[in-house]
Amino acid sequence: MAKLVIQTIPAEVLRKIAQPVMSVDKNVAAFMEDLAETMYKGNGIGLAANQVGSLSRVIAVDTSPERDGTKALLMANPEILWSEPKEVFVYNEGCLSIPGHYADVKRPKRIRMAYTDQHGNRRELEAEDLLSTCIQHEIDHLNGALFIDHISKLKRDMILRKIEKERREGETEQ
Ligand code: NI
Repeated sequence: MAKLVIQTIPAEVLRKIAQPVMSVDKNVAAFMEDLAETMYKGNGIGLAANQVGSLSRVIAVDTSPERDGTKALLMANPEILWSEPKEVFVYNEGCLSIPGHYADVKRPKRIRMAYTDQHGNRRELEAEDLLSTCIQHEIDHLNGALFIDHISKLKRDMILRKIEKERREGETEQ
């Protein structure tokens, strides 16, 4: 299996809306596996198709302590059916597409969601706390959104300025 290349901001693909997968065929199932493999290699707890330059609605998630692949959630066409309207969960989020930057993000504590697994079966899942946050973060990616969209403009601009500075410094080194 090929390890996919992770796109980082300001890559345009991160701001595009991914399209539904028509059916989970062999190719899509293989892509799901590749996405999970790339997530583990990057030490991430989730990864979305946009982040590897693909615009199909596929995400991989694993918030288990084992992280050995047995509990990977490979999801096509993930969809949030319900989210907790009152209680929030706050997590210091990061993203493989915004390496080295973190910020506290508030999201609904609990969700119920549906997705198609790598065998083509439609499934439903209830998630809370970190798993809920992670799934919401990955579905955001499919809609062209990033965790920095959920924080104050002040904090977002600070992160974006640092990234721009790092990018310029990287260019002069070459
Ligand atoms: Ni991310």
